[in-house]
Amino acid sequence: MGGERNSTAGKAPDMDTYTQQLAVCNPLIEPVIPSAIQALQLPSGSRGLDAGCGIGLQALLLAEAVGPAGHVTGLDLSPQFLVHAREIAEKAGLSERISFQQGDVNRLPFDDDTFDWTWSANCVGYHPAEPLPLLRELTRVAKPGGSVAILAWSSQQLLPGYPLLEARLNATSSGIAPFVKGKRPELHFLRALGWFREAGLEEPTAQTFVGDAHAPLSDDMRSALIALLEMRWPGAQSEVTQEDWAEFQRLCQPESSDFILDLPDYYAFFTYSMFRGKVAE
Ligand SMILES: C[S@@+](CC[C@H](N)C(=O)[O-])C[C@H]1O[C@@H](n2cnc3c(N)ncnc32)[C@H](O)[C@@H]1O
Repeated sequence: MGGERNSTAGKAPDMDTYTQQLAVCNPLIEPVIPSAIQALQLPSGSRGLDAGCGIGLQALLLAEAVGPAGHVTGLDLSPQFLVHAREIAEKAGLSERISFQQGDVNRLPFDDDTFDWTWSANCVGYHPAEPLPLLRELTRVAKPGGSVAILAWSSQQLLPGYPLLEARLNATSSGIAPFVKGKRPELHFLRALGWFREAGLEEPTAQTFVGDAHAPLSDDMRSALIALLEMRWPGAQSEVTQEDWAEFQRLCQPESSDFILDLPDYYAFFTYSMFRGKVAE
């Protein structure tokens, strides 16, 4: 949910921080990810992989999408997350349709052509990881004619009326998710069509899904936006002017009398982008 500084493939984020962020930010994400999954039009009864599944929230949605005859394997590096994921799947009554397995997305512990489709969200393309090894693995384990999809947070507009300040905050090296100063442009997530071409995937497509929020904000939405404002521009202070930092604090601290979420006409949006391709037959 834009907390991509913690989501670098190759490193599991701290469990408590991660689950807390997910829970608080869920009102923002909840309506967006199902739209992306729906756009995939996963065949009923198909079997798929959620690589880097975290605590398995998307594995649940994927399992629902493929129906009772389908199956989803969730894979993650973190055994702790998987314990949590199994509990959530059990509570949702979906444990028959989802299995979880520990493993590394860059060396998937599956034979070639195992799945009808593969999916990985908020894992590919973050610094310092090279995206191609993961994409090639997602392709290898998908059957010919199957699909490979990756999804990640791609932009946001959270400070209505302050486009220059927001642009300057976004220009801090940690600020433009998911990007880091000095990184090769080809590694930016929005260049993923090129990764799909290089991985030999056919008919690559890109699609962007928008989530938004507007006043009056429910308590849950307000908490979600506060968490997002806190995690969006970490480390920006050392990279913007004192004036910009003071302005940021005036607008973005809940205790400020000018807190932006208190605007009676507050409106914000953010996007997730999904790239998808077909495995050559
Ligand atoms: C930001 S979370 C995304 C979780 C989930 N896909 C989502 O979008 O909510 C990134 C996940 O990737 C996992 N991860 C990071 N590096 C990995 C690797 N090399 N192999 C498998 N999982 C990995 C982390 O443990 C974490 O659960």
